[in-house]
Amino acid sequence: MQSNASLEAVAAARLHVGIIMDGNGRWATRRGLSRLRGHEAGVEAIRRVVEAAPDQGVGTLTLYAFSSDNWRRPKAEVTALMTLLRFYLANEIEALVRNDVRLTVIGRRDRLPDGIASAIARAEAATVDGTTLHLRIAIDYSARDAILSAAAHAATAGQLTRERFADLITGETNLRDVDLIIRTSGEKRLSDFLLWEGAYAELHFTERMWPEFDADDLADALASFHRRERRFGGLTAMAPEEVPNL
Ligand code: IPE
Ligand code: IPE
Ligand code: MG
Repeated sequence: MQSNASLEAVAAARLHVGIIMDGNGRWATRRGLSRLRGHEAGVEAIRRVVEAAPDQGVGTLTLYAFSSDNWRRPKAEVTALMTLLRFYLANEIEALVRNDVRLTVIGRRDRLPDGIASAIARAEAATVDGTTLHLRIAIDYSARDAILSAAAHAATAGQLTRERFADLITGETNLRDVDLIIRTSGEKRLSDFLLWEGAYAELHFTERMWPEFDADDLADALASFHRRERRFGGLTAMAPEEVPNL
């Protein structure tokens, strides 16, 4: 894991937002379009949100693009999604570098079709110096599998603390816990997303379908987040960095 001290400082001080980008298929079929067109429109929404996030106080943005359970979908849809992700990773590098974004991909890589793992490696290497936003895209991701794999490594990791175990789960050092998880399309579940990192995340569910999600929707979600009182088990409002260890 390469270190980028400047981004780490920015990310520690700003919000970590996770988004379950749901509703592409329904958005498309309601318009008489193929589900693939919905996924294509979803990529446009990713562009909008990545661009808007830094100005809205977000330092880390984790986007759920493909879950380990999404392999259950028809082969044609899986292939189309993988092709789309490969194009996104290849075509987006220039814009990410221009916007000073660091991209990392979380999830398993060993089951991805040829070409995707190398596209991921190229995009990660090209954006490694980004200091404005840490964009994490979850592909073949399962929070339970990430925890399970960390547990397997923990056996030889020596003295274990929550922080050390979190590093094993995330593959990062001191990644900020998730402050806010947004899910689009009206579904109200986590579908195996950031179960450890989101232990105290605020949850925001919106009826908006992912292909329609834009900077204003992100601003609405963050405005609702800022109205919440986070207590972390205590009786008064606390910022995550003020929470005392027990
Ligand atoms: C989210 O949209 C994208 C992925 C899960 C890959 P969906 O494809 O789940 O869209 P709906 O839920 O069927 O509308
Ligand atoms: C969750 O959406 C995964 C992603 C958005 C990538 P799904 O559409 O796969 O989740 P379920 O099946 O409705 O829980
Ligand atoms: Mg869905």
